[in-house]
Amino acid sequence: MAVPTSECCKVLGDAQLPGGASPYGNFPDYSRFHPPEGRIQLLPSTLLSQLFPNPRAKPLLGLDVGCNSGELSVALYRHLLGLQETQACQEHLNELRLFCCDIDAGLIERARQQNPFPASVSYAVLDIMDPDARETVLSSYLGNFGHSTFDIAFCMSVTMWIHLNHGDCGLVTFLSYLASKSTYLLLEPQPWKCYRSAARRLRKLGRHDFDHFRSLAINGDVAERITQILTTDCGMELVSCFGSTGWDRSLLLFKSKEAQDLV
Ligand SMILES: C[S@@+](CC[C@H](N)C(=O)[O-])C[C@H]1O[C@@H](n2cnc3c(N)ncnc32)[C@H](O)[C@@H]1O
Repeated sequence: MAVPTSECCKVLGDAQLPGGASPYGNFPDYSRFHPPEGRIQLLPSTLLSQLFPNPRAKPLLGLDVGCNSGELSVALYRHLLGLQETQACQEHLNELRLFCCDIDAGLIERARQQNPFPASVSYAVLDIMDPDARETVLSSYLGNFGHSTFDIAFCMSVTMWIHLNHGDCGLVTFLSYLASKSTYLLLEPQPWKCYRSAARRLRKLGRHDFDHFRSLAINGDVAERITQILTTDCGMELVSCFGSTGWDRSLLLFKSKEAQDLV
């Protein structure tokens, strides 16, 4: 039986998500527990035309990092193009293309099988922390359009998993890579309490703590620390906060300072 959305958002934190330990946050039913609508409704549907009144070229290119089984990617695609769910899945090839990746091959397979926009929304298995693989895969996609960066990157509920698995250094490298690859970056960072739940969940399963959990110097107000890193070290500025989801995560939009004159 499906868990009512409003209830699961209030009652279930990540700690109660099913799927065993899911050490990368690769929960098989993530969108049931944190539905796309909770994020989508905070974003203006006119976001793309506001951000890109004079796009350098069409289609706009988006990157969704840690897309899981694709529910949020598809919801973002529809929302940003103003498409209703009941409408036929007409592709808008010249408006927006989304490249979505995840470390979990099973999730990507599911995303591909249920993709209503196969010509505009692409999925790939990719560990974004593997420098060679990410460069090969992303450059090859961007190269098809004659671009070297994405217009907008989405990184929704992923930062904590990178942080827990790769430590402070890994998080900084990750943020810096995303900043170098995108004009705009929309982030939904998990707050510190989610880190504690994730570590507790792993302990309950009799597994070791995440390698880095106890030694993380970036802790406490994680969203604030991430904002500092992006604005101080990665050449980005915070341009908007779209408020908080029902599960207490803020949606932060950053813009590359270098791209200032391009858009
Ligand atoms: C909690 S889910 C978020 C899913 C989706 N972005 C959302 O907000 O609905 C985190 C996702 O990040 C993926 N992930 C974690 N580490 C990753 C990595 N190094 N490279 C690519 N994906 C990764 C996980 O497999 C998982 O699907």
